[in-house]
Amino acid sequence: MTKVITYGTYDMLHYGHVRLLERAKALGDYLIVGVTSDDFDKARGKINIKESLAERVAGVRATGLADQIIIEEYEGQKIDDIRRYGVDIFTVGSDWIGRFDYLKEFCNVVYLERTEGVSSTALRSSDRQIKLGLFGAREGRILSKYCSECRYVNGLEVAGICTPDQEVRELHAEATVFETYDELLDASDAAYIISRPELHYQHVKKALERGKHALVEMPITLDSEECGELYRMARERNLILMPAIKTAYSTAYNRLLLLLKSGKIGRVVSVDATCTSLREVDPTKEEFQDVWNSLCAWGPTAMLPIFHILGCAYKRADITSLLLEKSRRYDAFTKIDFLYDDAIASIKVGRGVKSEGELIVSGTQGYLYVPAPWWKTDYFEIRYENAENNRRYFYQLDGEGIRYELVAFVKAIASGTEEQYYISEEVATSISQTISLFYSGKFTEIQYSGDEPKGK
Ligand code: CTP
Repeated sequence: MTKVITYGTYDMLHYGHVRLLERAKALGDYLIVGVTSDDFDKARGKINIKESLAERVAGVRATGLADQIIIEEYEGQKIDDIRRYGVDIFTVGSDWIGRFDYLKEFCNVVYLERTEGVSSTALRSSDRQIKLGLFGAREGRILSKYCSECRYVNGLEVAGICTPDQEVRELHAEATVFETYDELLDASDAAYIISRPELHYQHVKKALERGKHALVEMPITLDSEECGELYRMARERNLILMPAIKTAYSTAYNRLLLLLKSGKIGRVVSVDATCTSLREVDPTKEEFQDVWNSLCAWGPTAMLPIFHILGCAYKRADITSLLLEKSRRYDAFTKIDFLYDDAIASIKVGRGVKSEGELIVSGTQGYLYVPAPWWKTDYFEIRYENAENNRRYFYQLDGEGIRYELVAFVKAIASGTEEQYYISEEVATSISQTISLFYSGKFTEIQYSGDEPKGK
């Protein structure tokens, strides 16, 4: 019996796929079809697959051509499969010519002529494109990253940018520049907003009033009631309001949450997150007024694992902030201690102070450790008293997670349901509420001159 094997994603099964499978089957007596898993596709940069693995497998099965369907999950699996199933012929379409010659050591390799004029990519992009307007204030570094990442996301195109940041405008010379937010909104179906935390409320509100979906950098507002109001508005208008924290969309972060839920370190007793970076703008400069303070720039990211792991119902949050004498709205460093019924948590955030940006989750049987910078996480460890039991976990991270966040946003718009799985309204609101404590003066304050020690 001649065994043939072939692999593919088989997203939105089309005529080209069927023709390939027919010819693959005709090469022998028994056809094995390997369908790529979602994770494997993500790892090799295919992030926009429309159908789930189950749907894609069902599509291949429905052709009636496969004698056996397997899942392709890891790099190098093809050699394992060929040996395991005693495969005589490996075949794929001619778009892969030469790429699988290394398998000739194990079996025959046949490239079949690819069918012209049809592909999953073309089918996916024939859907309506969502026009995303990118709106930002003077600190345009993050806006610039979003602009670059949009090109990897099917179903999304940049409508234009609106930012006073000259560097960003020059860097993205191909993008249409709008001088006003109103003009940008007119040209867009959805807006990505990173203006200033105190202005987010009015900017999001305006987008929603105009019938535009909104992806908003956290904190969405500096007041939890306003946050609730925006969510209500979005629901009433069937629009998506999605909080943006790239970390929440990375595979490693989501996997660590699942592992914790499955009890890998026992009961969680403490979550401690640190996020810091150095200040780029001198406080004496005029543009310093646009600079996000430590709590707004880093607070949402640092609070995220706490609220995801321990929930939002903390009993107390004690905030201590080092306030810059020259600008009292600017906390150079803030520590928050959270008290829960049966656990504690803390964040340390700083802009202008540098510390080890790690995440540690302590449990009754072990602890989870994510090394710095944990918010760009592709790796973490679970450690135990007996180090032999320690485990390391690696995951692919592309575009710092921004790419996955944009995919989630597009999917949410297409399906009309927000992917609550990532950042729920409750978590977004609790983050705003905690930050609002600072703005209503409920914190312990330390004055800080911001001067460097003499003799440096
Ligand atoms: N294939 C083909 N003719 C086409 C499209 C695909 O022969 N018009 C073959 C590919 O060469 C591969 C198999 O079908 O052997 C599965 O391809 P897959 O990558 O799943 O499909 P594409 O349509 O090429 O998907 P994409 O556009 O996402 O790359």
